[in-house]
Order: sequence, then structure tokens, then C-alpha cells
Amino acid sequence: MSDQYQTFAKSPIGKFVIKNLGLPSPTALDRFEAGAPVIQGAVLLGAAVNSTLSGAISQVLSNIHADTYAGNNAQLQQAAADVGLNLRAFNSGDKESKFKALVFDASGIENADQLKDLYNFFNPVARQILSSGRVIVIGTTPETAGSVSAAIAQRALEGFVKSVGKEFKKGVAAELVYVDQGAEANLESTLRFLLSPRSAYVSGQVIRVSKADVAKEIDWSKPLAGKTAVVTGASRGIGEAIAHVLARDGAHVICLDIPPQQADLERVAGEIGGSVLALDITAADAGEKIKAAAANKGGLDIIVHNAGVTRDKTLANMKPELWDMVVNINLASNERVNDYLLNNDGLNANGRIVCVSSISGIAGNLGQTNYAVSKAGVIGLVKFTAPTLKNGITINAVAPGFIETQMTAAIPFAIREAGRRMNSMSQGGLPVDVAETIAYFASTASTGLNGNVVRVCGQSLLGA
Ligand SMILES: NC(=O)c1ccc[n+]([C@@H]2O[C@H](COP(=O)([O-])OP(=O)(O)OC[C@H]3O[C@@H](n4cnc5c(N)ncnc54)[C@H](O)[C@@H]3O)[C@@H](O)[C@H]2O)c1
Repeated sequence: MSDQYQTFAKSPIGKFVIKNLGLPSPTALDRFEAGAPVIQGAVLLGAAVNSTLSGAISQVLSNIHADTYAGNNAQLQQAAADVGLNLRAFNSGDKESKFKALVFDASGIENADQLKDLYNFFNPVARQILSSGRVIVIGTTPETAGSVSAAIAQRALEGFVKSVGKEFKKGVAAELVYVDQGAEANLESTLRFLLSPRSAYVSGQVIRVSKADVAKEIDWSKPLAGKTAVVTGASRGIGEAIAHVLARDGAHVICLDIPPQQADLERVAGEIGGSVLALDITAADAGEKIKAAAANKGGLDIIVHNAGVTRDKTLANMKPELWDMVVNINLASNERVNDYLLNNDGLNANGRIVCVSSISGIAGNLGQTNYAVSKAGVIGLVKFTAPTLKNGITINAVAPGFIETQMTAAIPFAIREAGRRMNSMSQGGLPVDVAETIAYFASTASTGLNGNVVRVCGQSLLGA
């Protein structure tokens, strides 16, 4: 779907009008390109005193061959040297250098006074970040911090990151990653995702990494090689993009949608060498049919619950069948299918369940009681299922904001423009942005991610 304002904003006259009227000026966001390095541009690395994650962070930066700089910090230099990361010297008086990412290990911050380390690292370089850059702060999960004051200080990091996401503009995204004790080795898939343009429209998020088995010998260019995935609602929109991205990452994708969508399903499956399952996800035997469809492909590794509908009406005007339909498709079917798969060996060890919520489920929305209840329920589904899972199986969700699809193209102009601009990126996201985030959760390397809900909303003001 086209964003005519963004096209206008890039024209000479558009630039003039926007500057003089103080209108939002959307930056064309970097997006993943096949064969490109994880990050193009320099990384500035910093750490608070006595931080414990610098070795794990340096290991990832070394693995992705990042051009990494650091100021005068002996502990950090030692941690980097231990894992063979070549740190280049940076003097904070240097105002010419530009960075694609500013990465800060905040795990050593143990009280409110030490939060000043954030200021000391970021303030001198706040104007030296490139467009589509990244600010990544990595801390210790507050619940596992060593003292109450440390937990408070770690919790405080969230306010810093969310404010930076709103301040830096130019398509810069800011994220906070909390790492559980002992989960250092599970950090890699998250850092790779956040540093790369795959996370273009993800900003202001808090991601929790927990301790889990670490997959050996991952081919990062095809992290889903040999895996079988089902994507529901795959005939168009976001589901079509998910099918494409999972196939690009190496999975065999079974594209599922309702029988009337058969022709489009066949087109999508044909484009990616996948297969077709024409099925209404609300059917009582949907779980059984999904298991059967994957049986001759080595069984099911990934299920993405993307199928969803809106039937907007204010509560006073809503017919009961509209309530029932939305809750059944968007929430109850997810529960039924998961229950069947988990109770009938329908998901392989290290399986992945990825759900699609919505910022409407976080913030609520006028005319969407049915939809918001279903999407808030999806968040509950993730939260309460996660601790029950075994064998390396995980469940996570994405919560998209305004994504350019047929669904959002149908929204009346004024409301559509408001939805599109009311975020830190001043633009809508693309279906591929949601798909990339789902592929990150689906990755073989993401066993340490369980129970997360990540918004793909450009840091929308709704529910922030
Ligand atoms: N577009 C956005 O801005 C946005 C924002 C937040 C969340 N979402 C969510 O993302 C998901 C995809 O949205 P989209 O914009 O691509 O919508 P879409 O309407 O373009 O696609 C949804 C697909 O789901 C399929 N579907 C519906 N009912 C089904 C059923 N009973 N069984 C099987 N398939 C069924 C449809 O046929 C369709 O192909 C939905 O869950 C939606 O709620 C979208």
C-alpha cells in the first residue's frame, strides 16, 4: 500500500513545506538485503563498571565482524580481548565519527547514582548516530538482580531507552534487552536481530532473554534450514510476508488459509516452494489436520498463528455473532490448535509457537472491544503457556501497530493518517517488518526467548 505523504516528503518541495510547517519527516528505513552484513557501519561499545555481559556482547560483535570502537575502559577492553574482538580506540572528544549502533552493557549498574553511566556514555555521542541506527542497552533482568537497589536501577533503564527512541528520530530504534543470570550464551539471536535492518520497525521494546540450551552450528544465513512451518492466513498481507521470510530462512512452509482463498494460497506456496493447506482454522479438527499436513515433512517445527479478522462496531451496536467470530478466529482457535499439538506430539522438540497480537490488545481501541479482547487474550496465551512448555519449545508474540496492508488501507483517511504518523518513525510499517520479527522468534537460535511480546509498531504512542 502506498504512503503518498512519505513520497511527497522526499521531494524538494515536500522537504521545504515539511520543514517550515514542522510536520513529521519520515526517514526511509533500512531493510534487510540478501548477502549484506548484519550491520553496515561502525558500532560504539560501552559498559558500566563491573558489568558482566561485555564478554557475551563482544563475542557476538566478533562473530558478525562488526567494526567496533570503545573509549578508555580497561574492563571492557579485557572482555573484548578475551573473545578476540578487535576494539578500535574512540575518543569522546571526536565529533566527526558516526556510528550505526551504540551498544551499552548496563549490567553493572547497581544503584540510582550509577545510572549516570548511561548519561556519560550516550550524551557525548547523541548527535553521532546515523539514520536507521540502533541504540541497544543490555541489562540484568531486574527480578534476578542481586539487591533491591540493583533491581530498581535495572528497571529504570526502560525509561531511558523509551525516551531515546522518541528523541533520536532519523529512523533510529532503541531497545532494552534483559538477560537472566546464566543466559549470556542465549543473547546472540537477539543482538543479531536488533543490530540488523530486520528490526527496522521495532523500537522502544524490552526483550527478555532466559537461560536455555544453545543450538550448535547455526547457519545464520538459513537459520530455519530443515524446519517445517505452518503459517495461518498466508494467502495475503502479513501472512504472505511471513511465508516468504520463513522460506527465505530455509523452512518448508505450509501455507494455510480458508478454502475461498485457495487460488492465492497456491500462488504464495508456488512462489516459495511451499505447500497448501486450505482449512478454516476454527474447525474442530484443525490441530489434527495441521499435524497430518506436516507428518511427511519430518513433523511440525513452527506454527505461526497469523490468521485474524476485525469486525469493528461500538459495543452498543455490536451483534453477538461479530463478537463470537472475532474471538473464535483470533484467540480460541489458537488455544485449541496449541492444545492439540502439545498434547498429541504435534510439535517437534525445540518447536516454536509464534502468535500475532496487536497494539489494540495493549491499548484498546474505539469500536474494537471484540478485537482487543481477542488480542489481549493472545498476550495472556503467551504469558501463561510459556512456563508450561518443555523440550525447548517456546511461545512468543508480535504485536503489530500500523502496518501497510489491505486491512489498514480500508481505514478512513484521517484516522489512517493519524495511525501512520503517531509513532517514533512517523510512518507505517511493512508486512516484512512483522515477518522478520516472527522469523527471529522462530529461529533455532532463539530457545532463550519464551513468553516475550514484542511490538512491531515504530514505538507507537498507543499503549506506550
Ligand atoms: N495490518 C495491520 O496493521 C495489523 C495490525 C495489528 C495486527 N494485525 C494482525 O496481523 C494478522 C494479519 O493481518 P493482515 O493485515 O495481513 O490481515 P488480512 O485480512 O490481509 O489477512 C488475514 C488472513 O487471515 C485469513 N483468515 C481469516 N479467517 C481465517 C480462518 N478462520 N481460518 C484461516 N484463515 C483465516 C484471511 O483469509 C486472510 O488471508 C491478523 O492477526 C491481524 O489481526 C494486523
